[in-house]
Amino acid sequence: MKLTVHKKDAKLRQTDVCVIFVSQEWVSSGNPALPRNLSGLLDGADLSYFKGKQSETYLYAPKSSAKAILCGIGEEKKATAESLRNAASAVVGLCRDRGVTEICAAPPSGQSPAGDFSLKAIAEGLSLANYSFDRYRNVPADEAKPLLKAAHFITDVKNAAAILREAEIISANILACRDLVNETSEQSNPVSIAAQARKLASIKGVTCTVLGKKEIEKKKMGLLLAVNRGSKIEPRLVVLAYKGDHGSKKYCALVGKGITFDSGGVNLKPSGHIETMRMDMAGAAAVMYALKTAAELKLRKNLYAVMPLTENMISNEAYRPGDIFTAYNGKTVEVGNTDAEGRLILADALSYTVRELKPAYVVDLATLTGACIVAFGEITAAFLSNDDGLRGMLKSASETSGEKLWELPLFPEYDENMKSDIADISNMSAERNAGTIMGAVFLKNFIDDAKWAHIDIAGTAWYSKQRGYRPKNATGYGVRLLTDFVRKLDI
Ligand code: BES
Ligand code: MN
Ligand code: ZN
Repeated sequence: MKLTVHKKDAKLRQTDVCVIFVSQEWVSSGNPALPRNLSGLLDGADLSYFKGKQSETYLYAPKSSAKAILCGIGEEKKATAESLRNAASAVVGLCRDRGVTEICAAPPSGQSPAGDFSLKAIAEGLSLANYSFDRYRNVPADEAKPLLKAAHFITDVKNAAAILREAEIISANILACRDLVNETSEQSNPVSIAAQARKLASIKGVTCTVLGKKEIEKKKMGLLLAVNRGSKIEPRLVVLAYKGDHGSKKYCALVGKGITFDSGGVNLKPSGHIETMRMDMAGAAAVMYALKTAAELKLRKNLYAVMPLTENMISNEAYRPGDIFTAYNGKTVEVGNTDAEGRLILADALSYTVRELKPAYVVDLATLTGACIVAFGEITAAFLSNDDGLRGMLKSASETSGEKLWELPLFPEYDENMKSDIADISNMSAERNAGTIMGAVFLKNFIDDAKWAHIDIAGTAWYSKQRGYRPKNATGYGVRLLTDFVRKLDI
């Protein structure tokens, strides 16, 4: 969707639809005058049932003059960037139902408490809610709900055009990330994703290295190869690099789990759990689009995005429970369960990253455990870290992006659960409990002494229903979190 600044004092035309975001206070103080070119817009409207509550909308469509949509933001003092993004999504719902494809939008003005962040938040909320994945559906024209094409902002904010340009870049990348995750495993597989990553090297500062099966064998990534054995499609390890700070040699590495379909392997997933498993590469998609966003925003940081990619399939060549394989860093791993495959491919990717790329920080994103959904539902991701600085930067990025994180501990007492009788370590905990922590405890064996954080996005990457500006199915979680994190990086 195009985001532009509406020309100052341009007259509204009869066909224009103008969205005004108003607080409960605005309503209760008797609807004070609207700013400049909006005055008169609500003349004749009956607002007696409109309260201005969070995400409440009201459409006023007089025949002979410009139309108005009021959108409530609730109590002015309590408005946050996240509540404004969600309010904006209610507007998108109304517009799509009514076939409105172009709007003017008036965010709360500079004098209001929300004034300084409202333009960005509303621009993001509108663009992120304006999404549907319908490339496989034949929709009759009279049933199609069109998407918004453009929003023109009526605003006093000085750098409005730059803010909107940024919001456009960020949102486009999140929508593309959702498309990649929603796409079928048939289309979105290790080979096609690697090819897509390679195309990003046309962006200034970005380079891409793809390791094919032979190179992965040469590097002795025994765990990625083990998981790949049941699949007809070859594995890939993609390393994207973005050099945005030529004065520094320090990099931050983002590593994303890229299982393009998780059948569970020989420990086959049952019906009810297997249907959505094309989403198991959401971590890889998020790190790829976070790097692309950082490059397009020309952030002055150096970044890697590392994506181990394979299917986890079942066949007569598939790896088995009880097998032992040797990781890139030489540690031997007993396969307790072939469905705990994410930690295996991440183990090779993480040890490759810390040893060959030597980043100042490494953050991995993975749809790693069902236990994470049990603990946190779809609302917040779990994170675990061994470094205070990293913890602080991630928490702060979580606040600005609205992509929620909640920390779990890495007490050394947990370590003994991942021991194996016959190998250095098992991929499966001896206990059924604390599944999300155990995933991280396993990964800790592959990071040497790097500053590291693990983010489990099993619940947040894929929604069973729409929530505000986040749609059902792929949410694109992580792209905004990581982009804000990269901005805040102290390297
Ligand atoms: N990809 C799954 C985790 C998952 C489950 C993501 C549901 C999104 C929704 C992962 O590979 C997995 O199967 N984990 C196992 C680990 C267990 C065998 C130790 C799990 O959570 O059951
Ligand atoms: Mn699995
Ligand atoms: Zn998985």
